[in-house]
Amino acid sequence: MSTLVVVGVQWGDEGKGKIVHLLGHKADVVVRYQGGNNAGHTVIFDGKHFVLHLIPSGILQPGKKCLIGNGVVVDPEALHEEIQFLEKRKIRVKGRLFIADAAHVILSYHRHLDCLREDASGKGKIGTTRRGIGPAYSDKVGRTGIRIADYLNPTVFRPLLERNLREKAPLLTRFGSMKQIRNQVLKRYSALRSFLVPFVVDGPQFVYGAVEADKRVLFESAQGTMLDVDFGTYPYVTSSNPVAGGVCIGSGLAPTQIDDVLGVVKAYTTRVGEGPFPTELKDDLGESLRQRGMEFGATTGRPRRCGWFDAVAVRHAVRINGSRWLALTKLDVLEGVHPIRVAVAYRVGNKILKEFPNDRELQATVQPIYEEMPGFQGSIRGMTRYEQLPVNARRYVKALETLVGARFAMVSLGRSREETIILDSKFPWKP
Ligand code: IMP
Repeated sequence: MSTLVVVGVQWGDEGKGKIVHLLGHKADVVVRYQGGNNAGHTVIFDGKHFVLHLIPSGILQPGKKCLIGNGVVVDPEALHEEIQFLEKRKIRVKGRLFIADAAHVILSYHRHLDCLREDASGKGKIGTTRRGIGPAYSDKVGRTGIRIADYLNPTVFRPLLERNLREKAPLLTRFGSMKQIRNQVLKRYSALRSFLVPFVVDGPQFVYGAVEADKRVLFESAQGTMLDVDFGTYPYVTSSNPVAGGVCIGSGLAPTQIDDVLGVVKAYTTRVGEGPFPTELKDDLGESLRQRGMEFGATTGRPRRCGWFDAVAVRHAVRINGSRWLALTKLDVLEGVHPIRVAVAYRVGNKILKEFPNDRELQATVQPIYEEMPGFQGSIRGMTRYEQLPVNARRYVKALETLVGARFAMVSLGRSREETIILDSKFPWKP
């Protein structure tokens, strides 16, 4: 048995899709444990471009099994669309994708509530994906949520739906009457319910079975540590726990069964949506990183905010995840940028902070203290060995390792699997 958690250690969009796809070759089972269709994992497979929102990217590799764990919130309509999208492209899904019966469902009123809260928040809005993620998790914790098992059982589902409509419909008049909202949910209920049945399993038993059978299981996070509801820039976070600890809660894997954690980190920083971003570049360089790195949200198409690498935030994330290993992505986007800056601490007034603060006022006002490094020239794309990288690119990689306290197992220089340099042969999941 061997388990690996792949987790984002910035604000999401670190390039986890490619890394999971690369390591997925070694896995028997790939599991998503949190988030929902707010995620967008971009993968190039067989020369084709896939963006997956809910289904683990292991589905693209024949023979692998995939689980959507109980910690995920599942929009049945979105899942149906994604499965159809894959099947149209000749990717077999039935018999390979499984969904935990304790995962909660997202229904139309969750999406409405998400929009309502965002629109009512004015300047304080989170900048959510408006997919209903926060309201579905609120219901889960508030004990009014509807799980897949409940959704499949009409005698349980109907009264739960009525209870939720009574509670929520008065807030949602902008989107229609209670009757109209009920109809939105029920219009496709019967078809979606029958569609879901063959995929549904007991999640923890599925995970336990894989571990007992000595399978290699890869756990794929969505979003990133700085968007974690507990360890991120609250309240500007998503409503789940992307951190490695979330694996146990969101899949049923026992804590003693996590063997390794790989953090995925971009060579600079991006963030989509509102909230603190100490190293943000609001100038031409930020714009140039956005264009060269094609930094536009895979789910919403929104332009991502871009900035320098923040070693304070990543060090915080590496510790929380226990990620001994890292995968560095998009180093090629820094070609020709000189000098390169890395935030090594923050300043507030005349105080120096070496750790990421929890206080929201501090998070929003800290000034980064940068270390400058010489940039590197020329194209590094296509390089497959570390020694081929220009000396300043290698210096940058080594400096980041020291600053964040973890080792790079690989460096990615492009979207395809070939555009990857393997750095450390001791990494147990070395592709
Ligand atoms: P929500 O998850 O839709 O509630 O959005 C909460 C915050 O997380 C917003 O700032 C979103 O932009 C951000 N977010 C959600 N999913 C992703 C993702 O997959 N990548 C990057 N940011 C995300």
